[in-house]
Amino acid sequence: MNRALEGFCGGFTDADVFGMMTQLITPPSPAKRHGGSARSTVPVRGEDVDCFVITGGNRLRGTTSVNGAKNAALPIMAASILTEGETVLKGVPYLEDIKHLAVLLERLGVSVSRDEKGHLHLKVEDELNCHAEYELVRKMRASVCVMGPLLAKRRQAQVSLPGGCNIGDRPVELHVMGLQALGAEVELISGDIHLKAKQLKGTEMFLGGPFGSTVLGTANIMMAACLANGTTIIESAACEPEVVDLANYLNACGAHITGHGTPRITIEGVKTLRGCEYTVIPDRIEAGTIMTAAAVTNGEVTIPNCRLDHLLAFVDRLRAIGVNVERDAGGVTVSSSRRLMPVSVTTQPYPGFPTDLQAQIMVLLCLADGNSIITEKIFPDRFVHVAELNRMGARLRKEGPTVIVEGVKGLVGAPVMASDLRASAALVLAGLVAKGQTRVSRVYHIDRGYERFEQRLNALGADIKRLPE
Ligand code: EPU
Repeated sequence: MNRALEGFCGGFTDADVFGMMTQLITPPSPAKRHGGSARSTVPVRGEDVDCFVITGGNRLRGTTSVNGAKNAALPIMAASILTEGETVLKGVPYLEDIKHLAVLLERLGVSVSRDEKGHLHLKVEDELNCHAEYELVRKMRASVCVMGPLLAKRRQAQVSLPGGCNIGDRPVELHVMGLQALGAEVELISGDIHLKAKQLKGTEMFLGGPFGSTVLGTANIMMAACLANGTTIIESAACEPEVVDLANYLNACGAHITGHGTPRITIEGVKTLRGCEYTVIPDRIEAGTIMTAAAVTNGEVTIPNCRLDHLLAFVDRLRAIGVNVERDAGGVTVSSSRRLMPVSVTTQPYPGFPTDLQAQIMVLLCLADGNSIITEKIFPDRFVHVAELNRMGARLRKEGPTVIVEGVKGLVGAPVMASDLRASAALVLAGLVAKGQTRVSRVYHIDRGYERFEQRLNALGADIKRLPE
């Protein structure tokens, strides 16, 4: 371990730190709570990789709540870098991505722990290290959201460029451009972005790119601008509920942010922020995934804490397909018992149809009575699930950023594998409805974003076994 990090990690080795963080961020005794095996599910340091063996054909029925939103929790955790005193976050899911960011924050000098209620405690120790190394950043792209807070708090940051991933190139030039507009000097040295600024200065900026707004880019600039001198206006800001949640957290810490949830966010800089207690919003993508699971199996599932107002574009498409979505005091209930209609789906920035539910709705449309069209306007290459679904009997044809879905009578089980979180979740949904057995390999992708996915689906009637590959 780098000597400079020893102070922050108590002189432990990388393996020690990872072990400690696993304890801190992994729920206690899953075997006791769920009757399953307590083995680790992350393929690190030569450990086993798990797969799911799914026996299809069961209708999902019952009630299940969703966890706090991963994509809200991650930037909020990073934002704790900006604060003095302790932040207590409620509703943070037990996920591999959360664990990775916790490890990175620990390396940067933020102490992170879970209490017995599962609340996450974050507190900046005396000195912050400013280097987010490639080893950690490459594991999870969301690590780039430490860039804005480090720069604002420490006046410098060295963050490894994350590189591409299985859903596309994933550039960060808009993040960098926005931080430069706030007064940062930027250099790229050996794959690391080096940023420094004596004092950030509020300014007006346009943050739109070729694919519209940027979620983590908006988060980075908003966080940095909180401690800048003067007023910052972000035009073409992302409107996603996760950005709104971050702004709400920052305001609860003493920031002056207005306009969040609209394309124009205004931030009046303040001198300091203080940590606070905050509850993360329910995960709309997890809710949408479970809703699709109910629909695809002709089941009936209620989600008590589903934020329907965060899912209106998705629900619009579900209803057009012929799926029933009802809301009452008990929550949102999704049911389906009739033929599915083909529709067109185009992913767009919020409030449009979310790219993070594109793979899941494709599974539903595979079984519709006719041809559907799905167009990806956020990540034009985000289709790693297409070839795998075709192995299960789907009829999908990709043409550029569009997939033509020819409805089929049914899917058949097969060994499949995907290398992206949402694509892997979609393969599980396909397995739930396929005839026979489906083996989904490398489910660590699912563990990145869905807490105990198989156990929760099994509680609704699914038949999924987690096995070592
Ligand atoms: N883009 C640029 N330049 C930039 C930044 C982004 O051209 O500097 C482009 C991207 O290539 C993409 C589009 O802008 O075409 C939108 O990307 P965005 O920056 O909004 O994505 P992100 O912030 O990196 C978050 C979520 C993703 C989700 C996208 C879009 C987190 C941790 N990640 O990523 O979630 O798909 O927004 O909504 O919040 C997932 O959870 O599975 C996931 C991938």
